[in-house]
Amino acid sequence: MLKKVLTVNHLTKKYKDRLAVNDVSFSIYEGEIFGLLGPNGAGKTSIIKMITGLSEITSGDVTICDISIKKNFEKAIRNVGAIVETPTMYQYMSGKQNLKYYASLYKGIPKTRIDEVAELVGLKDRIKDKVKTYSLGMKQRLGIAQAILHNPKILILDEPTNGLDPNGIIEIRNFLKNIARKEKISILVSSHILSEMEALCDTVAIIDFGKLKQIKTVANLSKDLKVKPKIAIKVNYPNFVGKLIMNQFKFHCEVAGQNVICDMEEKDIPKVTSYLISKNVPIFGIASVSKSLEQIFMDVVNNKQN
Ligand SMILES: Nc1ncnc2c1ncn2[C@@H]1O[C@H](COP(=O)(O)OP(=O)(O)O)[C@@H](O)[C@H]1O
Ligand SMILES: [Mg+2]
Repeated sequence: MLKKVLTVNHLTKKYKDRLAVNDVSFSIYEGEIFGLLGPNGAGKTSIIKMITGLSEITSGDVTICDISIKKNFEKAIRNVGAIVETPTMYQYMSGKQNLKYYASLYKGIPKTRIDEVAELVGLKDRIKDKVKTYSLGMKQRLGIAQAILHNPKILILDEPTNGLDPNGIIEIRNFLKNIARKEKISILVSSHILSEMEALCDTVAIIDFGKLKQIKTVANLSKDLKVKPKIAIKVNYPNFVGKLIMNQFKFHCEVAGQNVICDMEEKDIPKVTSYLISKNVPIFGIASVSKSLEQIFMDVVNNKQN
């Protein structure tokens, strides 16, 4: 059976009267990449700050490798590597000097580990260069190297791809997956971008207004994506045509620009088009539109889907 590395139990955070995290519970298993997904202000950073001891827990608890952070924070947190705010780096020192410095803060990190982590995050060739010459993506990777120096069981990253260009995002994604596999480490990562979470995570928890709305494996997210595409029909008077179709066939229709988006299946196309032609409605195009991941996400957030 898979081991739980981190469990969040009825976690709640109140800032004065504002409930920022509302009774959130989930578990992360060994080797799992777990994503917290939610719009800005959803409570992701607040959850991560409580887990990493940067912010006091209002109620609930967090256990890391079966140790409660409330009971024994020092021992529990030894299993965690985290980047929550921008990690401190000495710009005029090389990447390697920075890593050496951080290694000296822990007991028992072997010298070989520094080269090992540099290689893991793909900085081997540049590790002797000064940090000030690094791109944002490279600094981010050095931060992660720093965070995993002490062989933690779980790596926690708050919005690690913020500010990165598309290439940087792909780079980070690839080597996080690599690290999870090679180091057998679990990863907790947050983001407000669904497509990013889908590409990186095994499991995604959707957070909105401090509440956990849903936990899904990414395989299931993709399955939802394939559920029920809609049919878009391009016409001159979409409002009018939408009403025609609703009256005749009872399919729900929405208007998007020149298109009527109908809640119907491909097999319904012939009868609907025949009907429209019989009503002298010119048709300029017909296409099947899949629900985008962003839409699924919005549906979940707006409680349209459970
Ligand atoms: N230190 C704080 N004091 C008061 N309110 C805060 C503080 N930090 C965050 N909040 C509020 O808590 C809610 C959740 O914020 P946050 O955890 O930063 O969300 P996210 O990381 O998902 O964007 C927001 O409404 C935010 O304004
Ligand atoms: Mg945040």
